[in-house]
Amino acid sequence: MEKQVHFIHFLFALFCFSYTKFSVAAEGLVNGRRENGSVKLFVFGDSYADTGNWEKFAASWKEPYGFTFPGKPAGRFSDGRVLTDYIASFLGIQSPVPYTWRKTVEKSGLQSGMNFAFGGTGVFDTFINAPNMSTQIDFFQQLLEEKAYTKQDLYSSIALVSLAGNDYTTYIQRNGKLQGLPAFTTSLISQLSASLKRIHGFGVRKIAVTTLQPLGCLPISTAFSSYENCSESWNAASRFHNQKLQQEIQRMNKESRENIYETLDLYTAFMSKLSPAGNMKPSSFLMPCCVGMASDYSCGNIDKNGAKKYVVCEKPELSIFWDMVHPAQNGWDQVYSSLKSSLHRLY
Ligand SMILES: *[C@@H]1O[C@H](CO)[C@@H](O)[C@H](O)[C@H]1NC(C)=O
Ligand SMILES: *[C@@H]1O[C@H](CO)[C@@H](O)[C@H](O)[C@H]1NC(C)=O
Ligand SMILES: *[C@@H]1O[C@H](CO)[C@@H](O)[C@H](O)[C@H]1NC(C)=O
Repeated sequence: MEKQVHFIHFLFALFCFSYTKFSVAAEGLVNGRRENGSVKLFVFGDSYADTGNWEKFAASWKEPYGFTFPGKPAGRFSDGRVLTDYIASFLGIQSPVPYTWRKTVEKSGLQSGMNFAFGGTGVFDTFINAPNMSTQIDFFQQLLEEKAYTKQDLYSSIALVSLAGNDYTTYIQRNGKLQGLPAFTTSLISQLSASLKRIHGFGVRKIAVTTLQPLGCLPISTAFSSYENCSESWNAASRFHNQKLQQEIQRMNKESRENIYETLDLYTAFMSKLSPAGNMKPSSFLMPCCVGMASDYSCGNIDKNGAKKYVVCEKPELSIFWDMVHPAQNGWDQVYSSLKSSLHRLY
């Protein structure tokens, strides 16, 4: 009997010991898996991920942006929540604070990680003057040098990387045509891959990268067909990018002998929600909710007298797209419901 008690004590002590050791070594991990509610999320990307990094002159800070959530313009390029918010809710944490707000929040406000994403940016420079992916990672590096996060924090944290759409629109604006795109994709993937390795190099052991959305189905691409048909050549460009990305991710995981990198398939998630079921007209899926009243205006524009030069649809909660390039909260909600089954790989 006594022996048994001793044995139980011994087991218990062993358990306590290993448990303490473990929680000291890797906070946020339980049995080697990330724990819901206690991981940190670091985000790099563009407007699909930005939750407020831009200064107040940006469209994301003007009406009617943000009117579904949080109820007024607050820096998101949508009527409400964006990808970052959904991923954070899946992880059971607050949406990470935008980098440019870090000094305005209390230290505890930094515990769910940080969002370095800026709308309009890319892996390379775009026509928008905002930090590209390398610079966003520089910001992260600076914070780590200032010891804003510990090695243990990073060990159980997750990085979300979501961009590249603006790289393609910039390419087209520069070159006027899709010709030469495969070579561009190759250099883009190689730069992206180097950036992902850099993030991993700081000690982040799970990095989720989104595939490119179907560029040909964005309202800006479908407007010419009255929002009826997606542009197949643009979608083919997205698919080519995604194929190269997935190959590179596989190669990198093989090289690191661990599944550090995961792709989140935005392309498939969007397409599954944009394919009309039954006899619903495709236009009801492809039509943006908020549009300019004439071609020289866009969502959120006002004239010099302050008069609105845009119209908002009656039911944004049914729209996939909010403006010419950005999903509405409902769109993100639907995309999230498609992505959800693959998000378990982040734990
Ligand atoms: C994590 O927790 C949040 C609420 O705390 C929950 O909504 C979410 O579904 C959880 N995620 C998983 C994968 O269990
Ligand atoms: C990103 O921006 C920085 C700062 O402007 C610049 O030096 C760098 O070349 C850019 N990187 C890429 C990959 O375009
Ligand atoms: C959209 O595609 C369908 C099927 O290919 C075609 O019949 C229709 O004319 C197209 N609509 C426009 C506005 O181009």
